[in-house]
Amino acid sequence: MNEMIENLLSHRSIRKFKSKRLNQQQIETIVCSAQHASTSSYMMAYSIIGVTDDSKKERLAEITGQSYVKHNGHFLIFCADLNRVTIKATNDEYENMLDNLENSEHFLVSAIDAALAAQNAAIAAESMGLGICYIGSIRNNIAAVDELFHLPKHVIPLFGMAIGYPAHHPESKPRLPIDAVYFENGYQDHEDALDRFDEKIGNYYAKRSENNRKDTWTDQMKRRFQKTIRMDVTNHVKNKGFNKK
Ligand SMILES: Cc1cc2nc3c(=O)[nH]c(=O)nc-3n(C[C@H](O)[C@H](O)[C@H](O)COP(=O)(O)O)c2cc1C
Repeated sequence: MNEMIENLLSHRSIRKFKSKRLNQQQIETIVCSAQHASTSSYMMAYSIIGVTDDSKKERLAEITGQSYVKHNGHFLIFCADLNRVTIKATNDEYENMLDNLENSEHFLVSAIDAALAAQNAAIAAESMGLGICYIGSIRNNIAAVDELFHLPKHVIPLFGMAIGYPAHHPESKPRLPIDAVYFENGYQDHEDALDRFDEKIGNYYAKRSENNRKDTWTDQMKRRFQKTIRMDVTNHVKNKGFNKK
């Protein structure tokens, strides 16, 4: 197994960081790695906001309810960005672009581009001995985050990423068995694989060194999807000119 694969397989989210901040060179290496991800039709339809202002980090910690949003080596926010492609358009060209720009296809394109860039950033950071945690809970109040960073029309915040020097070493979290996610030549029934996984994850939750509990993956998912969350995201996304048609 090569070093790259070993790094990928030893990923775990880090939620406790030392107070040491990343230096400019580390930040630029991580962002540059993010930028080299593949991007749909060369659109590069994302922006990355680095948060260095402590009062903004404080506000993000309030919104997310997660202290590691404030205490880390650096914090990034990944945004879907369809604004940039309109900047050089005349008023007429802009009007002609809107139907296409604001459809579901380009909402997906921008979210996919941002996610690919983010995962490159994560892998780069981890290869440098740093830890990361994605932070989707910035969408607990997507409108407030959007306003905090003065995002223009056609730009929305998707998720954050806390990066820093790990101050704990959690166990790696098991993943679904391969036969539950990889199918050849068509979608396949995989209920048995879920049973096997529930047993495995049940043991993991019972025995892990932090936050242990009695749970299974399928129970976790059933609970999650019976509770409505972040219902305001739909309107916010549409109001900012994404996924409108
Ligand atoms: C888009 C995205 C958003 C996430 N948001 C949060 C979050 O808000 N808070 C958090 O503690 N972890 C968050 N996570 C981390 C996941 O909980 C974690 O990746 C998952 O449980 C698997 O654990 P592992 O990363 O340690 O393998 C997020 C992950 C992703 C990909």
